Amino acid sequence: MRIESVQINQLEILSEKKQHLAHLMIPIDDDHPLISFRFTPDENGAGIIKTHIEIGGWSKELHDEISVRYQGPALQPFRKYRISINTELSSGESVYAEAFFFTGRKDTPWKGEWISDRSYSFRRPQSPAPMSFRKIFCLRGDTEESILYITALGIMNIRLDGEEISDDFFAPGFTDYRRFLQYSAYRLGALKKGKHELLVTVAGGWALGRTTHIANTDKSISGLAGKRQALLGELRLRYPDKEEVLGTDESFEVTETGPLQKADFYDGEVYDARVSWSRWRPALRENLKIHPEIRAAEGVPVLAQEELHAVPVGERPGGIKIYDFGQNFSGIVKICVHGERGQKIVIRHGEALKKDGSLYTENLRSAEQRIVYICRGEKTETYMPRFTCMGFRYIEVSGIEEEKICITAYAVYSGLAEKGSFVCSDERINRLQRNILWSGRSNFVDIPTDCPQRDERQGWTGDIAVFANTALFLFDMKRFLKKWLRDLKYEQSVSGAVPFVVPERPGVTPKITTSCWGDSCILVPYALYREYGDKEILEEMYPVMTKYLAAVQRYSALSCLRWHSPYIFAFPFQFGDWCAPEGGVRDWLSKGPWIGTAYYYQSCRIMSSIAAVTGRTEDAKKYRKLSEKIASAYCRVFTDGSGNLKDPFQAGYVLPLYFGMVRGKEARKMADNLAELIRVNGGHLSTGFTATPYLLFALSDNGHEKEAFQLLMKDTAPSWLYQVRKGATTTWEQWDVIQENGEIKEASMNHYAYGAVGDFLYRRVGGIEPLVPGYRYFRVRPVPGGGLRSAAVRHVCIYGIIDVRWRICSGQFELTLQVPYGTEAEIVLPDGSCEKVSYGIHHRICCYPTDGAEDVRCDQPESKTGKDGR
Ligand code: BGC
Repeated sequence: MRIESVQINQLEILSEKKQHLAHLMIPIDDDHPLISFRFTPDENGAGIIKTHIEIGGWSKELHDEISVRYQGPALQPFRKYRISINTELSSGESVYAEAFFFTGRKDTPWKGEWISDRSYSFRRPQSPAPMSFRKIFCLRGDTEESILYITALGIMNIRLDGEEISDDFFAPGFTDYRRFLQYSAYRLGALKKGKHELLVTVAGGWALGRTTHIANTDKSISGLAGKRQALLGELRLRYPDKEEVLGTDESFEVTETGPLQKADFYDGEVYDARVSWSRWRPALRENLKIHPEIRAAEGVPVLAQEELHAVPVGERPGGIKIYDFGQNFSGIVKICVHGERGQKIVIRHGEALKKDGSLYTENLRSAEQRIVYICRGEKTETYMPRFTCMGFRYIEVSGIEEEKICITAYAVYSGLAEKGSFVCSDERINRLQRNILWSGRSNFVDIPTDCPQRDERQGWTGDIAVFANTALFLFDMKRFLKKWLRDLKYEQSVSGAVPFVVPERPGVTPKITTSCWGDSCILVPYALYREYGDKEILEEMYPVMTKYLAAVQRYSALSCLRWHSPYIFAFPFQFGDWCAPEGGVRDWLSKGPWIGTAYYYQSCRIMSSIAAVTGRTEDAKKYRKLSEKIASAYCRVFTDGSGNLKDPFQAGYVLPLYFGMVRGKEARKMADNLAELIRVNGGHLSTGFTATPYLLFALSDNGHEKEAFQLLMKDTAPSWLYQVRKGATTTWEQWDVIQENGEIKEASMNHYAYGAVGDFLYRRVGGIEPLVPGYRYFRVRPVPGGGLRSAAVRHVCIYGIIDVRWRICSGQFELTLQVPYGTEAEIVLPDGSCEKVSYGIHHRICCYPTDGAEDVRCDQPESKTGKDGR
């Protein structure tokens, strides 16, 4: 038995190697941080008697738990604390682990002040020019340790004596700046006596840079959080005999004249390597127009992760070269060039190539996604942008010969640990799984976004509402989503509406009570609860959820006029069957009342469970009753009462089936109707964002397994494998972005909503389903189908690894299951046999008659967790 993982506030701290970060620290400002740990199973079968945990003199004995809130005396700021975990085993032995964490500033007043270049202003809606701050300081002796605590209005990059200090990208991250601004901490180590130079460049980033979400218009806005960039920081120097603090003040200098001339998320960077920083002038104290609370970073740092290599794939007139990275992703290029002084290299980024081989950029809308680098004229010059991120697979390079440039790229996204994988005997499904993974990676850049390429990249709430289950299977999302939910909580309107995007872009994105997007305030915390079994997030979000549902209830009451029922959620606005393959925006929106009402039901049903698990019995009853009324209103208003929709469409059946609004005969009829709609549609789905995640469940859980697998395996549009057949390496916003004839539809090629089918792969094909939140008790009931001969699915839950592998061989179904320590599982085999097992590895076999087709080869795929490259 070993203690394999120790986390503080959901960040791994046991193995230093996991944080291959040279300088970045993750300080804790929380008074009661959460400590979680995990064991590897014991080969000799020894169990745990108790665990003793100790932090700075405070200790606690735990019996069954694997996480605990620190409840000891107030933690002191700027301190290193040790966590010791000692576990007594039934074998008489004990295991021990220790890990360390650092506290942050806590409530210590800043010694530094906000500073800026008060003479600087910029033209809206453009992004501001990068602003650099410099401090040359002299140390009177060697320091033992030096830590920089720093934040900015904008996004920053830090250098000390020319060396890069920021291991992370885009600090201080994306939050609702009006209320909450994060600070970062960087360890600079022992500094030598003498002169040093601190250089901090701040670009507009999310706070001030150009932003838009208004489809098909060039309408942008910038300067949302202030007039110009500003910096606040302090360098804490620890000498052997005392501590000194060097804060940002008017002794810092500032300039906008430097090599980095332009930096913008959408548009890219312009870097003139011939220019050196000049025109330094004293920085002045700045009064911000916002007054956020400043706390230690609560999210997951954005890092440069997978390295990708480019292959030249074509040449265009004028010496323009096209390169392919083989994978669509969010990231940046790194170039190494040998150019003449003044030689201008331009790199444009795009997700696809047109039929004639040129770079396709129409779906970027107004985002330029362009890097301009002007050479200094040295033998080798290396450049990698730090203030932008692109969504791309291809680049177009002009201004330099192929042999004089070397290009690599890095995927840039939040450093989320990957903890789920799925492989099966069908390579096309495996590609789909990798596409889902890459769309997840690409859209988790500090917040959950819609897309990484065009001029949006916003925290669209509906997208994560439908993708949350899949995301939580694949990544360790707790810390990341909790930070985002805190903003959602801040931004809920007094009337209960949740903004369409979080963090809200004031004045740009509306705050209207709407289904699915608004239901994110219930669906996302509930998905977190299911994954981690932690009720705290439910408690924290409870007032938000009830307020949102009260708003929905008020709006639904208006439906009496149109629908003669107060339970139809139609007004004031619904996205409806968003992005459904048939029709356009109007048609999607027109399905609002069906989609809205079904989601209203689902949220009330979930609220009833949330109320029950948080001890609110009356509320539990209230929401259950309300949900029943909504379900019967749906059936009364929209169906003939026997499971037939008056205006039939697929999503109109999918949602009531999956959400459990109908039962028995009525459910069977609805499922048959759904299957029939698919059949008459040539075996094709016709659902959009809000129903697609549940489509295959609705079929397979209601007697139409065969049809569910037919849809999964379909490779003509609209379908998942159509995208795969068309060469997709991420999941698309619309089913057929690349059309059968090769034409490209103006839509994103990196949206994760349709990737929510991952949930079906893991929970049905793989069969892993938590029966108790947190997987302390789970079911493994694989559903084979679609000609799959084998599958392997793995998930690292809070207790450890769940690993399921099955194969069909010689008329038999063979299953191997690994159950983590501290959990129990119920195995259900395809022949219906059922049994309960506890931790360890289990092999089971049952008869599985096939027509021979599934039985050609008896292979067993490898399952793996972690970075899999492409
Ligand atoms: C975004 C979506 C979003 C939708 C809602 C789009 O432009 O990219 O993913 O949910 O708008 O209207």
